[in-house]
Amino acid sequence: MANKYVISSSILSADFTRLGQQIAAAESAGVDWLHVDVMDGHFVPNITMGPFIIEACRRATKLPLDVHLMIEKPERYIEAFAKAGASGLTVHVETCPDMFSTLKQIKSLGCKAGVVLNPATPVGEVFPFLAEADLVLVMSVNPGYSGQSFMPESISKVADIRKKLDSLGSSAWLEVDGGINTETLPKMKEAGATAFVAATAVFKHPQGIEAGIKSLRSLL
Ligand code: DX5
Ligand code: ZN
Repeated sequence: MANKYVISSSILSADFTRLGQQIAAAESAGVDWLHVDVMDGHFVPNITMGPFIIEACRRATKLPLDVHLMIEKPERYIEAFAKAGASGLTVHVETCPDMFSTLKQIKSLGCKAGVVLNPATPVGEVFPFLAEADLVLVMSVNPGYSGQSFMPESISKVADIRKKLDSLGSSAWLEVDGGINTETLPKMKEAGATAFVAATAVFKHPQGIEAGIKSLRSLL
């Protein structure tokens, strides 16, 4: 992808009675990726979407589908999500005892491979995998729900990972997720993030989806 910075709009805050229309509105407003939050009710308290929704999104748009797997034993479902049309699959360090083989599995199915860590997880836990990752995601809320407040402790994690990626010469995306809005995005950008996930700030923007995307993009 040619852009230096991307906005990935999370459909978790979309109106699911009009999902196709909302995706089309985000696409025509110039969003770069669609972020799909998969939750299993075990790794996180909430239950959301499975491959079926990814397959529906795939038919609704040509945008890259940035799929965030908040599930235990994600390796069991990677093939199903890849077949459903995911462009990238991001798995948590907390759920992958053999991260190298999980990242390899994702890539072997033609998807970009991402690694993500929770707010409580020390940043060093992802360092061993940076050279293999196409994307590194830093959670700036505890995963489970949209609409939560940004955790400022995550800013220094982004800065630490940025340093490591640069020292490796890696061009992996450094993505941030949770409480991203016009106030927090510039702080994460300054720390070195390049991909910004937003659910509430896009799909619940008081002036609509287009205004939400444009206000974030104006800061990039
Ligand atoms: C949280 C999800 C996020 C969420 C972000 O568990 O991973 O992607 O949708 O929502 P906002 O942008 O409202 O914080
Ligand atoms: Zn997410």
